[in-house]
Amino acid sequence: MSRNTKIIALTGKGGVGKTSISAALVKLLVQAFPDKKILAIDADPAIGLATALGIEPELTLDNIRNEIVENVEGGKTQEAMELLSESRYKIAEAVVEKDGFAFLAIGRPESAGCYCRVNSYLKDVITMISGQFDYVVIDGEAGIEQINRRVMEKVTHLLLVSDTSKKGLEVIKTIENVAMDLVQYDKIGLIVNRVEESSMMERLDTKGLELLAAVPSDKTLAMYDFEGRSITELPDDSLVVVYIREAMQRFGIL
Ligand SMILES: Nc1ncnc2c1ncn2[C@@H]1O[C@H](COP(=O)(O)OP(=O)(O)O)[C@@H](O)[C@H]1O
Ligand SMILES: [Mg+2]
Repeated sequence: MSRNTKIIALTGKGGVGKTSISAALVKLLVQAFPDKKILAIDADPAIGLATALGIEPELTLDNIRNEIVENVEGGKTQEAMELLSESRYKIAEAVVEKDGFAFLAIGRPESAGCYCRVNSYLKDVITMISGQFDYVVIDGEAGIEQINRRVMEKVTHLLLVSDTSKKGLEVIKTIENVAMDLVQYDKIGLIVNRVEESSMMERLDTKGLELLAAVPSDKTLAMYDFEGRSITELPDDSLVVVYIREAMQRFGIL
């Protein structure tokens, strides 16, 4: 993997704004670096980033994994190397090219139970294709699972996202503790999102983490979400875009 690739992953409790911020970040990267290769990965089986970026993916990593597994179980056992190269070829097929960036979704496993198999596949895929890009933005699944399963191992910039709730910040602290051992990050930072009252920030316990931004509630974002419009079309002066730009300058990304 190219050591210059910046892999930025967003983690935190559900509903705190990971997907919205991921999409805003993709928009900012595309604007700032029109000549760089940018990949957005929707790593949440709940599938939100595709919608936020205005994409309808036809093929997901879960589809590909199932196809390969079926081939193997159906007797078409191949050498491991062949499987890997087939996988590489198929992944290229699943990558959707948009204006200025590429997109890949983990998808929603249809078989009941555990996401662990597709998560471990995602980990390999991140390792395999990140080197082809300058920036990779990963919109993570809510909670700690993908950190625990080392899906995020190669992430260089870990973004912890929380709302102002105690629970949200507790989840962040848990993730940070585990990530210390299981993620090889260069940088870690906190974004507090949907801050209704700026006075809250004076009393909010940031758990010793670098606070990159306290993003206010953004009516424009809420309206875009209401209308199902892509976040990439948000005006450059909308609150989320302005605050995330500043946060990413602090974080050494922009
Ligand atoms: N700063 C904000 N202002 C207003 N609404 C927001 C803000 N951030 C997120 N939201 C809204 O909150 C909801 C959850 O956000 P989302 O990005 O999907 O969170 P997550 O991906 O962490 O589950 C969405 O409806 C989104 O539009
Ligand atoms: Mg989400």
